[in-house]
Amino acid sequence: MLHLKEYVSHVKPGVALDVGTRFGEFAFTLKEAMPEGSRVIGIDCDAETVRQAGEKAAGSGVEFQVGDGAHLDFPDGSVELAAISNTLHHIEDYDAVLDEMMRVLRPGGTLLVNEMFSDHQNEAQENHFAQHTLEARLDRISGGFQRPTWKKAEILQILERLDLKEVQILELPEEEAMDRKLAEKTARLTAAVEKKAAGHPDFDALMAEAREIQRRVEKTGIQRCTQLVYIGRK
Ligand SMILES: C[S@@+](CC[C@H](N)C(=O)[O-])C[C@H]1O[C@@H](n2cnc3c(N)ncnc32)[C@H](O)[C@@H]1O
Repeated sequence: MLHLKEYVSHVKPGVALDVGTRFGEFAFTLKEAMPEGSRVIGIDCDAETVRQAGEKAAGSGVEFQVGDGAHLDFPDGSVELAAISNTLHHIEDYDAVLDEMMRVLRPGGTLLVNEMFSDHQNEAQENHFAQHTLEARLDRISGGFQRPTWKKAEILQILERLDLKEVQILELPEEEAMDRKLAEKTARLTAAVEKKAAGHPDFDALMAEAREIQRRVEKTGIQRCTQLVYIGRK
């Protein structure tokens, strides 16, 4: 979990949204960072994910709702903080989602984008980048949508047009617990190729890539790429 309280100390009690929340991974970070009296709401377009998130997070104080980031069911200017974490690259029209997050923010409200980036990483992080790139490819082959990890400058270019004020650009490492989860995923990488790319013309090449990543991770380990945290006010 990232610890963000010091970077959002200007935020007032109010509604905080986590768009593309999955199981609330980042919503819990927001819960910790938001002032007393706030509502933290995780939003995901996948109803089954939201159901499971609600079950897992019972009693945590985070609410979960089904919703599309491009059509948020909140009035203009009604939200204090709108966040999106490691989700922007999963969305084809990310500009539409960012515009919608800006619409629901109050003037002076805070937009927060948390997204891992691929450049200037150490060897163990390069292994995460390779693994994530293969996973993104497998997602596309099996009918999903996911871009490979962006470079830092590419993320900044996407966000520049929003013209936010008091922008803070942070580079934060994730906690080690995230690396252990990644190592478990590495072990399942060839099974993922079998499941998602069976019969695909590139199957053999994808399998070879998965084995090569597993070999590299055995040698140098795997560590999550550094997170770019972009915070600015509307
Ligand atoms: C990689 S996961 C999110 C990870 C999580 N936020 C974190 O920081 O670890 C991406 C999530 O975005 C959701 N998603 C994709 N497009 C969406 C959209 N347009 N609106 C809402 N959720 C969306 C997916 O269902 C998925 O659960």
